[in-house]
Amino acid sequence: GARPRVLSGIQPTADSFHLGNYLGALRQWPKLQDTHETFYMVVDLHAITVEQDPKVLRERTRVSAAQLLGLGVDPDRSALFVQSHVPEHTQLSWVLECLTGFGEAGRMTQFKDKAAKQGTDRASVGLFTYPVLQAADILVYQADAVPVGEDQRQHLELSRNLAQRFNHRFGKTFIVPEPHIVKDTAKIFDLQDPTVKMSKSASSPNGIVELLDDPKRSAKKIRSAVTDTGREIVFAPEQKAGVSNLLTIYSALTGRSVEDLESAYAGKGYGDLKKDLAEVLVEFITPFQERVNSYLDDIAELDKVLARGAERARQVASRTLSVVYDRIGF
Ligand code: ADP
Ligand code: NA
Repeated sequence: GARPRVLSGIQPTADSFHLGNYLGALRQWPKLQDTHETFYMVVDLHAITVEQDPKVLRERTRVSAAQLLGLGVDPDRSALFVQSHVPEHTQLSWVLECLTGFGEAGRMTQFKDKAAKQGTDRASVGLFTYPVLQAADILVYQADAVPVGEDQRQHLELSRNLAQRFNHRFGKTFIVPEPHIVKDTAKIFDLQDPTVKMSKSASSPNGIVELLDDPKRSAKKIRSAVTDTGREIVFAPEQKAGVSNLLTIYSALTGRSVEDLESAYAGKGYGDLKKDLAEVLVEFITPFQERVNSYLDDIAELDKVLARGAERARQVASRTLSVVYDRIGF
């Protein structure tokens, strides 16, 4: 039968994806093309829930798309597009907002966290309704599955509730999406403070490896990663967070198991591990950057690829929206 459909998005809110984004999420995207019908988008609508510079946003949107292509998203096999190019997202979002309780939206912990950081008066209504737009992103494609990390579980639950609510009230219209739990994703920690996850909002620039950064600088960051005063290279996240993080990265980039790495480095020092991992990283990053640059060298062609992706996405999205509009009496 038909392959299950999967939908995923990434925000264009940084100049480069980082190693955590890649090993925790994006690495799965090309793989899913073998087993699923894949819809991948750069979620620029979500990016404006916080203040954005238009020029920077436009640039980051293209660079994000080029990075996805560089990581192996194949525009012939996936619908690869920019969220704002498909107006059905916002159209469905309004309908779903009218089915979402105010209190229900207010219970979204990610909003509460972000609003607490910005101050409730400064947080936009868009930030508040963001999870409903996310529900529209998923439901408009009748996605069967959504790859989710722990931080997105509550949002997927809202999407499922809204699909069920609409179906119950207006007749079966939406597929209720399931979480797609990916087995071999890794949680990557900050290289300078391995107790917190690697993030674009890292406190030290040396804690984060950006895929588009100078490979020499990234190699240096690996070589100066924080470890501990011990000597043994063993995977023990509680006692040896830094070393364990390096082993996780090493294993994820090479496909070698952590056990295999532990025995390969038995009797060797942290310096050996870091030096080798730095080389592994450079070998991954260098050809990746060449591919990304080749896409960015021809913006007209890149824009064409994205326009084709949006067209393909709209074929599905517009069908869903017209059923929805009909069901609610438009
Ligand atoms: P950031 O945390 O840097 O702001 P995002 O929140 O934009 O990154 O995350 C984009 C994707 O990358 C999400 O799927 C998220 O779960 C994943 N991700 C982000 N940081 C990490 C990390 N350190 N380890 C594993 N996955 C991560
Ligand atoms: Na984040």
